[in-house]
Amino acid sequence: MLERRFLKMKLIAFGVRKDEEPYFKSWEQQNNAEIKLIPDLLSEKNIDLIKGYDGIIGLQTTPYKREYFEKMKDTGIKILSIRNIGIDNIDLDAARDNLIPITNVPAYSPSAIAEFTITQMMQLIRHTKIFNEKMNHQDYRWEPNISRQINQMTVGVAGTGRIGRAVINLLDGLGANVIAFDPYHNPELEKRGIYVDSMEEMYHKADIITLHMPATKDNYHLLDDHAFSQMKDGVMIINTARGTLIDSEALIKALDSGKVGGVALDTYEYELPIFDHDLTNQTIDDPIFNNLNERDNVLITPHIAFYTTEAVKNMVEVALNCAATYLNEGKLTNPVVEIH
Ligand code: NAD
Ligand code: COI
Repeated sequence: MLERRFLKMKLIAFGVRKDEEPYFKSWEQQNNAEIKLIPDLLSEKNIDLIKGYDGIIGLQTTPYKREYFEKMKDTGIKILSIRNIGIDNIDLDAARDNLIPITNVPAYSPSAIAEFTITQMMQLIRHTKIFNEKMNHQDYRWEPNISRQINQMTVGVAGTGRIGRAVINLLDGLGANVIAFDPYHNPELEKRGIYVDSMEEMYHKADIITLHMPATKDNYHLLDDHAFSQMKDGVMIINTARGTLIDSEALIKALDSGKVGGVALDTYEYELPIFDHDLTNQTIDDPIFNNLNERDNVLITPHIAFYTTEAVKNMVEVALNCAATYLNEGKLTNPVVEIH
């Protein structure tokens, strides 16, 4: 618990893009705060900038290492407020050991991610990458890329939290047959009887599987050789959750054999040096990524499911409010790490 009320909060925000700046600036004007905006993500190179600030507004697209939390403690940082959902790159034990509370923004816009999930699902089913490539060299033939209709397919939704449920709402509108798996059942979905008892049951039944759970130690490489072997031939996979949920090498084998008929990846296990970087005309030194990206039934996007104006505004404002509430009132909203 904080012992003093802050007169003027001093916050430092890392990884701030141009599209976020107006939301930071207008919040700063409306609150008793000074916010330093740093375009680069927090790293060894800029961690010393945190000296003299009360709180950090971070983004979870870089590892938050033990040394960073030690530095936060040494420099008197009171809170790390993450402006996104996922916390899988953060050394939470190190935060606890160094008494740094952490908050996140758990519901900035489930619709943003759900709408993008459906976009990619429909593109996979309708072979848009293949048709775009054919059209680039004036091949306007239909054959052999006939599609199926989603209203005749079974879609397995793995994880029925905020995003999974938003995806199910959209799938309902499209008339898909939805099945779902989550260790915790949502009462409304339970009434509909859409839950299967295990991921294995989903593997056997689903034509499309879409992942919507957080990355944890327990679900590292959830989709591995064994999981793929239990799926329907030609299954399509969508991953807008976290890259580590899929064993990419096992995925390549499953694509080679035709077990997996198509995959849309908005997250990829080795994405950090690639996504949200301008690598124009550079060779990407990642043979797994290159192998996947060259395939006409693999759609890769650089972790953009969240990226809408509505989501970005909420991410910035809620993260700032979390920091302010803690610094001014000692109350932790959206706690990830609590300090007692
Ligand atoms: P949430 O906490 O609301 O829901 C997650 C659900 O997953 C929970 O119901 C939980 O019980 C369930 N779950 C946990 N482990 C599971 C398992 N092994 N099998 C099945 N279900 C399991 O989270 P959310 O808001 O729905 O977000 C889901 C994930 O989406 C986030 O953790 C994050 O990794 C990812 N995400 C991606 C983007 C993007 O831009 N691509 C943006 C935001 C979030
Ligand atoms: C999240 O909110 O967890 C995301 O995946 C979005 C990204 C900006 C980190």
